[in-house]
Amino acid sequence: MAKPVTQFACAECGAIHKKWTGRCDGCGAWNSIQEEVPLSQGPSKKSLGGMKGKRMALTDLATEEAPPPRTLSGLGELDRVLGGGLVPASATLVGGDPGIGKSTLLLQAAAAFANAGHSVVYVSGEEATAQVRMRAQRLGLGDSAVKLAAETNLRDILTTLEAEKPDLCIIDSIQTMWVDTVDSAPGSVSQVRASAQELTSFAKRFGTSVILVGHVTKEGQIAGPRVVEHMVDTVLYFEGERGHQFRILRAVKNRFGPADEIGVFEMTGMGLAEVANPSALFLGDRDAPAPGSVVFAGIEGTRPVLVEIQALVAPSQLSQPRRAVVGWDGSRLSMILAVLEARTGVGFQGLDVYLNVAGGIRISEPAADLAVACALLSAREDAGIPPDTVVFGELSLSGALRPVAQAENRLKEAAKLGFTAAMAPKGCKTGDAGGMGLRLLPDLATLVGEVFGAG
Ligand code: TYD
Ligand code: MG
Repeated sequence: MAKPVTQFACAECGAIHKKWTGRCDGCGAWNSIQEEVPLSQGPSKKSLGGMKGKRMALTDLATEEAPPPRTLSGLGELDRVLGGGLVPASATLVGGDPGIGKSTLLLQAAAAFANAGHSVVYVSGEEATAQVRMRAQRLGLGDSAVKLAAETNLRDILTTLEAEKPDLCIIDSIQTMWVDTVDSAPGSVSQVRASAQELTSFAKRFGTSVILVGHVTKEGQIAGPRVVEHMVDTVLYFEGERGHQFRILRAVKNRFGPADEIGVFEMTGMGLAEVANPSALFLGDRDAPAPGSVVFAGIEGTRPVLVEIQALVAPSQLSQPRRAVVGWDGSRLSMILAVLEARTGVGFQGLDVYLNVAGGIRISEPAADLAVACALLSAREDAGIPPDTVVFGELSLSGALRPVAQAENRLKEAAKLGFTAAMAPKGCKTGDAGGMGLRLLPDLATLVGEVFGAG
């Protein structure tokens, strides 16, 4: 057999390279490539030969299939993100920065499932059982029937799980686990991949739902969750801004439900509390309406969320004025500034532009374009938008406004929170608009002329 060839794997995305390079071609991460000695070459490279295999039974798509049964945790926000509860025999990855609250969330989830009558095993590779127990007591979950273990050897863990056959098993974290057949250190690409492989195949064979915790890494010292994303059924990311209390659990892949769904939690002294009405939370600490502040009626997953977008425009001392964005895409801001200048003549040369999505949430919907344009114009013209107005709509490079999906849901949510008027693109399906006053605009020039009296 040929000698195993050394190869180089990216700790972020798992891409394989022939040579070490400073930057991964696959995902663009810097300094994330590590040397890896493969264990075996796999089956030797021969053709299948003349020997016949067994003939498979093929079925057609029309066959009735019962929807997967679901178990509900009772943690409403978690169940929602999972697509209506946890699916048996599924593997789920929960990724997030260290310290964001993954262990807290999963300990609470474990207790909730246990209290709902399911058998739950929580394996911690990072904390001693005493630490986990102490945290559980602090969270008021001391007497739930979760079974704990502190272990990192996957062979021992799987042996225990095969005997125990729990409904749910939580592995905190996948980067601390090691398989004794793989020669590299825990946290390396090959260990993380092999451990995840073993655990997902255990989930399929025994019908246990497995939840893996994965740390997101910036430095590439340990392999990130991207390495296992394709192996699991569901990928959730737990995110939040430092200095803000709330956390967002976001589905980015889900074989059993909608992706892009979010669940909102608040980190309190007593653990994570569910936030049933995120709009009220994000708008809660709204200052008195000021120029540059606009409320955007957005949709996150299947649910409408209102957020405040703030812009500040100030004369610049720099030869290349600043463009700073928090919570939105920087290149999208440049695009909107360019469209404003090209299509309406409102320029931003010599001006610093700051854009902030209040509350610390991150918005990626193109439907925020119009709200951003309004915030920028309002800041530049020093003219406030009426405080009871919400704004949404997508901007095209021609300066025209494009209708966006779910206009009626956006309007209903705004009406529920006491807003009485909305600005939106012409052609949106607004239904009865929740009784709100509507201003439907065809393009940016109309917005600039009618609303700001400029241009
Ligand atoms: P943790 O769940 O350990 O994070 P992760 O597993 O993602 O690394 O969360 C740790 C942080 O959460 C820590 O900084 C303290 C905070 N926290 C609270 O604010 N309240 C609580 O009740 C708990 C348990 C943690
Ligand atoms: Mg942890």
